[in-house]
Amino acid sequence: WSIILALAVLGYLSGTWLGAITVCRLARLPDPRLTGSSNPGFSNVLRLHGKRLALATLLIDMAKGWPVLLMGMALELAPWGLGVVGLGVLLGHCYPLWYHLRGGKAVASAFGIMLLLTPGVALICALIWVLLAWRVHTAAVASLTSACLAPLISLWLAPDFVWVVVAFAILVLIRHALNIRRLRDGSEHQL
Ligand code: G3P
Repeated sequence: WSIILALAVLGYLSGTWLGAITVCRLARLPDPRLTGSSNPGFSNVLRLHGKRLALATLLIDMAKGWPVLLMGMALELAPWGLGVVGLGVLLGHCYPLWYHLRGGKAVASAFGIMLLLTPGVALICALIWVLLAWRVHTAAVASLTSACLAPLISLWLAPDFVWVVVAFAILVLIRHALNIRRLRDGSEHQL
């Protein structure tokens, strides 16, 4: 338990590194929390500043938890232990202490964590995300659909990790409360 807790805390700390803020700062662009959807994430950077910076944001958010998760894997933690560490990373991304607990929406970071823990589930979810984003031009619809389908795909491909994927999906849904409200009244941002 103490190792899992220590790694989860390290995971939380690495999760608080928000790719969108770093990328925009380096490119001397306005803080992504002040424009567009105000979300410090891949989709908002894509809308505001294009593919190159969005890709950089995605890579940081995806990979920031990997060192800690790889440590957990090297220590041969059980799936639930790795799940707790991954959840630490996601909580850091969504609720960073240094940014008044106002972080991102967990999609890119959850994808990165799942790519290590449940690669098949992650890749199918990514495919669903890309296809939906391409067809409906709305990131939140793609994210919410992928999050809802992920537990079912995990039940099929990675049953040991189902509860982890369910926890991730719940967090993604909670973080999209505003998007759901905007989708209902037809004012959601397009990609
Ligand atoms: O990945 C986040 C996405 O689902 C929603 O982002 O900027 O459209 O609120 P945004």
